Amino acid sequence: MIVNSIVKKTDDFIFQTYMRQGKAFVKGEGVFLWDEDGKKYTDFLAGIAVCGLGHCHPGITEAICRQASTLIHVSNLFYSMPQADLAKALCEKSFADRVFFSNSGAEANEAAIKLARRYFQKKGEKNRFRIITMLQSFHGRTMATLTATGQDKIKDGFYPMLEGFSYVEFNNFDALKKELDDSVCAVMLEPVQGEGGVIPADEAYLKAVRNLCDETGTLLIFDEIQSGMGRCGTLFAHEQYGVTPDIMTLAKALGNGLPIGAMLATAQAATGFDFGSHGSTFGGTPLATAAALEVLKIISDPSFLAQVQKTGDYFAQKLAGLAQKHKSVVGVRGKGLLLGLEIEKDAAKYVGQMLEKGFIINGIQDKVLRFVPPLIIEEKEIDCLIDALDSLF
Ligand SMILES: Cc1ncc(COP(=O)(O)O)c(C=O)c1O
Repeated sequence: MIVNSIVKKTDDFIFQTYMRQGKAFVKGEGVFLWDEDGKKYTDFLAGIAVCGLGHCHPGITEAICRQASTLIHVSNLFYSMPQADLAKALCEKSFADRVFFSNSGAEANEAAIKLARRYFQKKGEKNRFRIITMLQSFHGRTMATLTATGQDKIKDGFYPMLEGFSYVEFNNFDALKKELDDSVCAVMLEPVQGEGGVIPADEAYLKAVRNLCDETGTLLIFDEIQSGMGRCGTLFAHEQYGVTPDIMTLAKALGNGLPIGAMLATAQAATGFDFGSHGSTFGGTPLATAAALEVLKIISDPSFLAQVQKTGDYFAQKLAGLAQKHKSVVGVRGKGLLLGLEIEKDAAKYVGQMLEKGFIINGIQDKVLRFVPPLIIEEKEIDCLIDALDSLF
C-alpha cells in the first residue's frame, strides 16, 4: 500500500524527532482531511492551529497561485508590494508601527528577544539584558526560544542554555514583581498558554503586568503565535484584556499553511534595530506575504470574528457538558476556538481512539485534550465530535 511506503520512507529517511500517528494524509478541503485509503477525518487540530481558514481555502489558493506565477522571491535586498501591503495591514489592525517578517514562530520570537536586548544596549544600558518568561510557556526550538520556554523536558541534552533568562509562575503577579529588577529588559508571555495546557491569563494579572512594565520601563512581549489570528475570537487575544504589548509575535495561522512569522513592535521599541541588526533570506517572501494578506483580510472581518466567538462559546458549552456527565473529565478552559478539556489521564489514548473514529484532536501534558479546529468549523461538526468523545469517557 502507498500509505505504508509513505510511512516507511519517512521512518527510514527522516530524523525520528516526531512521535507521528500512523496516518498519511493526501488531501484536505475545509475542515476535512482524507487519508490514502480514502477515509475522511474531521480536523480539530488544523495542522496545530495553522489552517485557520481550513484546508485549501479557495481564496488563499487563488492568492498563492496568482503570486506564484508573478514573483515568488527577491530577497530583502529589494522591495516587494505584497510584503509592504501585509506590513501596513498588520500595523493598521494592531497596536504596532513596524513589522519584521520571519519564516516561523521560533524565528519571530528570536527577533523579539534580540530586539528587546538591543533596545537597551543601544541606549548604553549594557546590563539590562534579562528576560523573564513563564513556567509552562512554549516559545520555540531555537536555542534562544528554547531557553525562553519554561518547560525543562524539551531542554534535555541541549544545555547550557543562554544566559539571562528567568522563569516565574504564570498568573502570579507577586512572583513576577519579585523577580523584576533593573537588569530585566523584557517580560515575555503568551496571553493564552497553548502548549502549556491551554491556560488563559487572568485579566487582572495581565493589566498588572502591563502597569509594572510601564512603571519600570520594561518591554512587554506577547507571543500570540498560537492565540492570535482570530483563534480566540478577536484578531489578537490581548484585545480581550484591554492591554497592548510593546512587541508581539505571530506565525502559525498567519499564512494558513505557508510558512511565515512576524514580529510587530511599537515605534519606540522598534528603535532597537538599525540597518544590519537582524535579517532573514526568506522572511516575508512575496509568496508568503501575498497568502498572509488574504488570510488577514478574511479573518479580521468583524463578522468572521463574531462567528468564531459564537462557535467557540457553543463548543466550550458542549465540552462543559461532558465534564458534568463524566467523572474522568475535569473541566474545560480556553478562549474562542483555542480550547482544552482537562481529563484525569491518558490523553494519548483518547487521541488514538478519536483518530480511529475519524476525528483529529491533540493531547498535551497527558491530561489535556486540545481543540484548535479551523475557525470555519460548524456546530454540526462539533456535535459529531462531542458524541464521539461521549462514547469514549
Ligand atoms: C506560543 C508559541 N510560540 C512559538 C511557537 C513556535 O512556533 P514554530 O513551531 O513555528 O517555530 C509555538 C509553536 O507551537 C507556539 O505555540
